[in-house]
Amino acid sequence: MCGIFAVVNDKTNYAAQTVLAGLKKLEYRGYDSWGIVIKPLKSDTLRVKKHAGKIGQAKTSLPQGTIALGHTRWATHGGVTDENAHPHLDCQKQLAVIHNGIVENYLEFKEELIKKGHKFSSETDTEVIAHLIEEKIKNKPTTHAVFETFKALSGSNAIAVLDTKLEAIIACRNGSPIVVGIDKKNHQYFLGSDVPAFFKYTNCVYFLNDGESVVINKHGIKLFDLKTEKEKRLITQTLDWKLEDAEKGGFSHFLLKEIHEQKETIAKTAGLNGKEIKKVVKMIKDGNKIVLIGCGTASYCALAGKYFFSRAGVESQVYQANEFLPFSHFCDKQTVLIAISQSGETADTLIAAQTAKKNGAKVVAVVNARGSTLERLVDVVLPVDTGPEIAVVSTKAFTAQLATLYLLTMSVANKNSPGQKKINQLSKVLTQWLDVQLINQLINIVKSLIDEEHVYVIGKNLNYPAASEFALKIKETSYLHAEAFAAGELKHGVITLIQKNTPCFVLASNDETKNEVLSSAAELKARGGRIIGVAPFTSPEFDELIKTPDLGDLTIFGNIIVGQLLGYYLGIGRGADPDKPRNLAKSVTVK
Ligand code: G6P
Repeated sequence: MCGIFAVVNDKTNYAAQTVLAGLKKLEYRGYDSWGIVIKPLKSDTLRVKKHAGKIGQAKTSLPQGTIALGHTRWATHGGVTDENAHPHLDCQKQLAVIHNGIVENYLEFKEELIKKGHKFSSETDTEVIAHLIEEKIKNKPTTHAVFETFKALSGSNAIAVLDTKLEAIIACRNGSPIVVGIDKKNHQYFLGSDVPAFFKYTNCVYFLNDGESVVINKHGIKLFDLKTEKEKRLITQTLDWKLEDAEKGGFSHFLLKEIHEQKETIAKTAGLNGKEIKKVVKMIKDGNKIVLIGCGTASYCALAGKYFFSRAGVESQVYQANEFLPFSHFCDKQTVLIAISQSGETADTLIAAQTAKKNGAKVVAVVNARGSTLERLVDVVLPVDTGPEIAVVSTKAFTAQLATLYLLTMSVANKNSPGQKKINQLSKVLTQWLDVQLINQLINIVKSLIDEEHVYVIGKNLNYPAASEFALKIKETSYLHAEAFAAGELKHGVITLIQKNTPCFVLASNDETKNEVLSSAAELKARGGRIIGVAPFTSPEFDELIKTPDLGDLTIFGNIIVGQLLGYYLGIGRGADPDKPRNLAKSVTVK
């Protein structure tokens, strides 16, 4: 949520243009507005360009310069206006601030600052940071004024400050991500909320920890501990991502690319984490309670995990991370809490994991993005390593997390190698199945659904979380109202929603619940519903069938991928942007 990008020592001398290009890669973090500030080559007066709306095809005529800072916003405090777009300046216009997070105590500061004569030009919490630094600069060097200001802010925050006199960027982290990129060859430095923003320049990175700050100027980069305000050693790491990972690679959208990447990412996941899974299995066997948490798509992964655990003979509980706190006191030393998150930065998930940890629970993270806050606070990390997931809605990270949970539960049941084999087979089968014929069939179905107002999705057993994720994908990506129900719940009220030709997707597998699901399909059909089966078998109850591979418990992978693809093509057909659905952000770093 909110993207930060900066460059120092831009070798083209067009730092604003470099920042604009980087921000376009970060737009998935928020697209309410964007803004850039530059210190021009031939002047000490900061120049700013900022606008409400998506960065899209924007161009900038900001003057030449070698140091610039930019932001894409997901609005929290203050409406979506040009004035509320970042950066925000102090009264003297000597420094510019951009920010990711929420300053929870900004109102107390704002009142004090107004009394002291500071003039505010926005409704944001961020602007207080610029004026607070301006106050402190009166008595101390800028760097320390920034450190002190940042430490006074409550909430999860990351800030970056461009100071015109120092010609430096100062960035601080507490809860919201910041990573620096060092292009040694060209002596250029980058700062971003995420690696894709600068990956084309360098793979040499440093992920800041909470309580750290970096000061970057033309001479180099220095790392500081915010508590002691002392410099510390900066040890970089080299990422082994490929450049294509952060590009669309011939696909029209990242979402479509990431859906297709699942042909490889699921199998890749199966080869990871052998040792870590053993550790988690031991924790589970030593304890007496398993709790799974996540938000959004990750919460449906958690729910599917509960079914997988049950099939392995182990009871577990599942919560949406944002509803976990009322139950957190049941967590103790015997609890293993499994937190699922693509980004590892979702505030609700972090708070749940921290609380469980405080109560003595062992915490395991199933994450995709590396270097995240979640990764740092847990006992064991199970990374799923699908590479950067750029589209806002989660697809390849979700299926890799699902595969990881499946392998974990198979290991709990001492069936690690059959589990591995099944995942590898799944991957091969999906590769053959996901072909042009399937896509053409889905596009034809999409054409018939474009003007619908509601679609319903039912499933039972493992197909219930699958149906929930299927419906979420359609809602998020195309804004078509899709609602999932447990098949058995239909007759208890929801069947009133079904009228003549209401589209109903019926997700099914060749399992013990098949006949019950088909009975539910028959009930829908009897009320006039248009029944679209998503299953590995035909049935007279289905008006149409989207045939998915028959893979036992793993059939849900194909069933879910159908929902991802329908969401994508429906999004295109209904004029939405499948990579950046309205009002959403990729990682929601506020409560
Ligand atoms: C946001 C996104 C969802 C995502 C959820 C959890 O709400 O819009 O698509 O599923 O966060 O994100 P996480 O990074 O924790 O998996």
